[in-house]
Amino acid sequence: MEIKTFILNNLEETRDFARDFAKTLHAPVVVALHGDLGMGKSEIARTIIKTLRGEDTVVPSPTFTLVQNYDGISHFDLYRIGDVSELEEIGLPYAVDNDITLIEWPEIAQDILPSNTIHIYITQNGDGRKLVLQ
Ligand SMILES: Nc1ncnc2c1ncn2[C@@H]1O[C@H](COP(=O)(O)OP(=O)(O)OP(=O)(O)O)[C@@H](O)[C@H]1O
Ligand SMILES: [Mg+2]
Repeated sequence: MEIKTFILNNLEETRDFARDFAKTLHAPVVVALHGDLGMGKSEIARTIIKTLRGEDTVVPSPTFTLVQNYDGISHFDLYRIGDVSELEEIGLPYAVDNDITLIEWPEIAQDILPSNTIHIYITQNGDGRKLVLQ
């Protein structure tokens, strides 16, 4: 996949990106969201879920639950995973094969992510964000 870069100057531009990006996603597909604390991984995941499942969908952070499911969309946050063996218990391999799978803190799962995983890298850019899609 070609590399694309987006400059997102504020939260609204992050949401606009995520709405457009959501419409390109068809299961099974994995989106790995890379970026430090507060870079906007959850915001992008939340906007994708609301775009595809309805604006009224309640999207809590999976920081404590590790995964939330939305009828064929699985939203993971692997920040608290201590060992790769836990990934099976929370259903990551099944989701990867079947769902639109959105993963925050995906690094610990890198060995089981398919080669066609869409990687999104978010970094600080002034007051806004730079997003690289590859
Ligand atoms: N383009 C942008 N410019 C400035 N602020 C932004 C932009 N996009 C998102 N934000 C802000 O960044 C924050 C993102 O928080 P969010 O919880 O989505 O981050 P996260 O990457 O999921 O963090 P964590 O690692 O804690 O899960 C929000 O406060 C949001 O308003
Ligand atoms: Mg988050």
